[in-house]
Amino acid sequence: MKESIKQLLAGNQHWSEVKVKQDPEFFRRSALGQSPKFLWIGCSDSRVSPNDITETDVGELFIHRNIANLVVKDDLNLLSVLQYAVEVLKVEDVIVCGHYGCGGVNAALKNQKLGLIDRWLENIKEAYDYYQWEMADITDLEERSKRLVELNVLEQVNNLGKTEIIQNAWTKGNRPSLNGWVYELETGQIRILHEEITNNTDLAIACKYERKKAYEMARQ
Ligand code: CO
Repeated sequence: MKESIKQLLAGNQHWSEVKVKQDPEFFRRSALGQSPKFLWIGCSDSRVSPNDITETDVGELFIHRNIANLVVKDDLNLLSVLQYAVEVLKVEDVIVCGHYGCGGVNAALKNQKLGLIDRWLENIKEAYDYYQWEMADITDLEERSKRLVELNVLEQVNNLGKTEIIQNAWTKGNRPSLNGWVYELETGQIRILHEEITNNTDLAIACKYERKKAYEMARQ
């Protein structure tokens, strides 16, 4: 575990030397440009490091991270990343990757007051409210948290699909596909929740299934 800024820089020195030893042209090639095939939207959590958990190298993932991997429709930061990834880099797949044990999701679930961040987490509460009937049925707190992590990924995939950027790409018959994943801290493994959504029909099916369940539960 590195504990000082000095150690980070020493780490960088070592990493770059090892890279050059393995592949003398690596950085020269890398400096020429990037053409990542994937956009990763994930949580800022230090344990869910996209390149590490997918065994990818620098240059392979275009990355946006925020607390609880949210896609907020007026977040200029995320939208700029998305537009650049889809329209300029032409990534083939967009991945929203949540993780169980997410501090952001748990804070929203427990209605904890943490200050400024509460305003950000309001966006999870929307998902929570939508599925409150299902959530109310789950009494075990850890199970509730896990389920909300999954539903949150679904909602964010849905939000992505509704952006003009994705809609424009799909209307032209282009990719990207949208994918919802969840990462398990205890095992280091990724589970697929929603796979290869490349049109509005598939998006609606992915969302409808969960929403229909929520609707039916509301009527019970
Ligand atoms: Co998190």
